[in-house]
Amino acid sequence: MLKNIILMGPPGAGKGTLAKQLKTAFNLTHISTGDMFRENIKGGTELGLLAKKYIDDGHLVPDEVTIGMLKDRLAQEDCANGFLLDGFPRTLPQAEALEKLSKEINRPIEVVVNLDCDNQELIRRISGRRVCKNCGAPYHITTMKPKVEGVCDLCGGPLYQRADDNEEALKVRLDHYVHDTKPLLDFYAERGLLENFNSLMGSQELFNQVSTFLNK
Ligand code: AP5
Repeated sequence: MLKNIILMGPPGAGKGTLAKQLKTAFNLTHISTGDMFRENIKGGTELGLLAKKYIDDGHLVPDEVTIGMLKDRLAQEDCANGFLLDGFPRTLPQAEALEKLSKEINRPIEVVVNLDCDNQELIRRISGRRVCKNCGAPYHITTMKPKVEGVCDLCGGPLYQRADDNEEALKVRLDHYVHDTKPLLDFYAERGLLENFNSLMGSQELFNQVSTFLNK
């Protein structure tokens, strides 16, 4: 099975949703740089205060900060049996740093799963997304409702709307995706690592297709 995996795609494509399904099914370590920043913001750390200035407006956190945080995380023991990178890399310097680091620690990237989705659907998903404050599980107010309104099915935590899930910040996030992150698809295609999936299908069908591919 392929196990050191990068999940790519624009904001709202379903990276976090798919990562949580794959993590459970295949016992992989889920590393979301967005979640790591949000944890730091919640904890009021120095890193969190710095990251918040960028994240709330939809901008990328500077490369040196993000790369340093990822380097520490990827070298940890729980990544030895396989990991899912969700939200990293997002720029060419991040992709180059990851390539170097993964060789150094002998944890090479085996596949890049890219989720395609059109802008209209991304806006629909982001504007209706609610997230669990405790465990980060994602929901949608019309298409992925929790059993009890406002309450996480998995841990009973309260659901909230992310500060950057508004129209203005989303426009900035989509611009960063097009200019900074989308070019990385060529970077990974040249290395024979890229595998594209259409994320317009429902989350269960997407999970089934990606799982079948990873198990080949
Ligand atoms: P991050 O948390 O990574 O946000 P993102 O990339 O914008 O992605 P999202 O979490 O918004 O969407 P997703 O693709 O995970 O979709 P989800 O599964 O939730 O980053 C946040 C910020 O942190 C960045 O803007 C930046 O400032 C900073 N940052 C993070 N990493 C960085 C880095 N490497 N460098 C610099 N800065 C960095 O799904 C969305 C909705 O759709 C949900 O409601 C869900 O229920 C629904 N849904 C999901 N899948 C499906 C499906 N298949 N069908 C129908 N609905 C679905």
